[in-house]
Amino acid sequence: MSRGGGRGHTRVLTARKRTAQSTRWLERQLNDPYVKRAKAEGYRSRAAYKLIELDEKFGFLKGKKRVVDLGIAPGGWTQVVRRRLPKAPVVGIDLLPVDPIDGAVILQMDFMDDAAPDRLIEELGGAPDLIVSDMAANTVGHPQTDALRTMGLVETALDFAIQVLEPGGDFVAKVFAGGADSTLVAEMKRNFATVKHAKPPSSRKGSVEWFVVAQGFKGRAKAEAAEE
Ligand SMILES: C[S@@+](CC[C@H](N)C(=O)[O-])C[C@H]1O[C@@H](n2cnc3c(N)ncnc32)[C@H](O)[C@@H]1O
Repeated sequence: MSRGGGRGHTRVLTARKRTAQSTRWLERQLNDPYVKRAKAEGYRSRAAYKLIELDEKFGFLKGKKRVVDLGIAPGGWTQVVRRRLPKAPVVGIDLLPVDPIDGAVILQMDFMDDAAPDRLIEELGGAPDLIVSDMAANTVGHPQTDALRTMGLVETALDFAIQVLEPGGDFVAKVFAGGADSTLVAEMKRNFATVKHAKPPSSRKGSVEWFVVAQGFKGRAKAEAAEE
């Protein structure tokens, strides 16, 4: 149940069975300009704008030919990729089911499963030149544990990127609390020409999420030589 507040702000009346927390969430959703925009522009998630804004800043979508979307559900990022790059196939993976998206293959499986990397590349039909990851571990409410679990996903996504990216390719991933840790950043710097952190305007101020954008994959041979 909702009632108009002043100047177009929608207030939600607290129903007896609704908790204060879910009332706050609903009120925020109803008043969020990105939620309204996503509805108007046909995006399945407000998260779509995070990728749009990151791309406005870093331009990683331009000219890409094959894309992997890790943590695709409900599909906003893949919709953005398909609208910008109508000829580029996308393969996405998620634990959750996702409604079909034209031009995208969607795998419902755990990215941490040993079989996932091969399945992704098999479905893509070649090496990707862009890998994006918006994966976040389900939170357990213990901040250090939550951050560590999400970092585990980012590390695995980076290992995958280093194994499969085309030289010159880009890797974009959600990280927690101010950025990737120093070991991970060092690993990215060894493998990519530039590594930057960003928090796009559509990422909620109160959330600890940030994004890391690694561009210009140096290729496996160069990265291996740098390690010696
Ligand atoms: C924030 S959502 C992604 C939103 C998406 N970028 C969009 O625009 O619609 C994060 C997703 O990561 C998925 N995820 C988390 N851990 C995963 C894992 N181990 N394997 C596959 N997907 C995972 C979650 O199920 C969730 O759907």
